[in-house]
Amino acid sequence: MTDTLRAVLGCEHPIIQGGLAYVGNGLLAGAVSAAGAFGQVGSAGRTPGSLSDEIEIARERAGDKPFGVNLPISEHHDIGDYVAVIERTARHLRAVSLSAGNPRPYIKRFQDCGLKVIVVASTVEQAIKAASAGADVIVAEGYEAGGHNGPAEITTMALVPQMVRAVSAPVAAAGGIASGAGIAAAFMLGAQGVQMGTRFVAASECIAHARYKEMLIRGEAVDTCVMERSLGRVTRVLKTPLVQRILELEAAKPGFAALAPYIGGERNRAAAVDGEIDEGWLNCGQGVGLISEIMPASELIARLMAEARLAVREGMGALGME
Ligand SMILES: Cc1cc2nc3c(=O)[nH]c(=O)nc-3n(C[C@H](O)[C@H](O)[C@H](O)COP(=O)(O)O)c2cc1C
Repeated sequence: MTDTLRAVLGCEHPIIQGGLAYVGNGLLAGAVSAAGAFGQVGSAGRTPGSLSDEIEIARERAGDKPFGVNLPISEHHDIGDYVAVIERTARHLRAVSLSAGNPRPYIKRFQDCGLKVIVVASTVEQAIKAASAGADVIVAEGYEAGGHNGPAEITTMALVPQMVRAVSAPVAAAGGIASGAGIAAAFMLGAQGVQMGTRFVAASECIAHARYKEMLIRGEAVDTCVMERSLGRVTRVLKTPLVQRILELEAAKPGFAALAPYIGGERNRAAAVDGEIDEGWLNCGQGVGLISEIMPASELIARLMAEARLAVREGMGALGME
């Protein structure tokens, strides 16, 4: 029998904090894990040295609780340097999550270091391939999610139950989940947990700029859009002035070279970390309309779990199962 998601990750609550490019810092990952969920240090937008430093910060903050690292494969030209950091620090880590690329060459390699491997998938086919290569957990990430999504644009609601049926590894649902009701719904679809991104950007410990957090509090689902479609990519972001300009340019399908000055990671960093909102872009999922407060990760996780339990009870009542 397959282990449950909580058993694989060694955490009390079935909530994974997703990799967060530029803003997935060690303090946030450590605080999430210390609160009983599963925090992850992001590697996108970091040098290998900075990843190593943030892992150390997460380790101090998490205490004896497990945490992981996210490795978006195609984001790193020098991926070997990041793999080396993860291998060197593996004794402090519980898991690595692989996204944005072919995970197959890395799964066994990380497992041989004693790590569990989480693979982020956006189609059933990807999930089957990852599971057959030995992935310990599959994240089913739907089109509602903040950041880079799969080009098939399958929604979380449709994707999760189909993935659960196709693989025996535990599945965590991701995309558009920003409340306890979303967590409860994920369980009803057969998932054993969730991965959340946007909601954690608004946690107190996250280094995201105060203006970014403010936009998450004020934002509604209609304030996100998808950019980079003209390049065959799907990136869900907030509608900033720069993003509006990118969409206008994309209408003429100008190609990568013409868009490169606007869509690069430095424009993400400028807005997300330095608060230069008008000149940058910000990853954000459609669940943004559910965010109304900034709070510490511990409070957020306690609140999400209480809301999820209440939602399950109310659902049972609605089904006449009280
Ligand atoms: C600010 C931000 C940055 C992200 N960066 C990454 C990343 O570097 N690697 C990755 O695998 N996923 C990344 N994601 C996706 C999240 O890990 C997660 O799967 C997604 O946010 C879930 O959907 P939600 O935003 O609706 O909660 C990012 C999402 C956000 C909001």
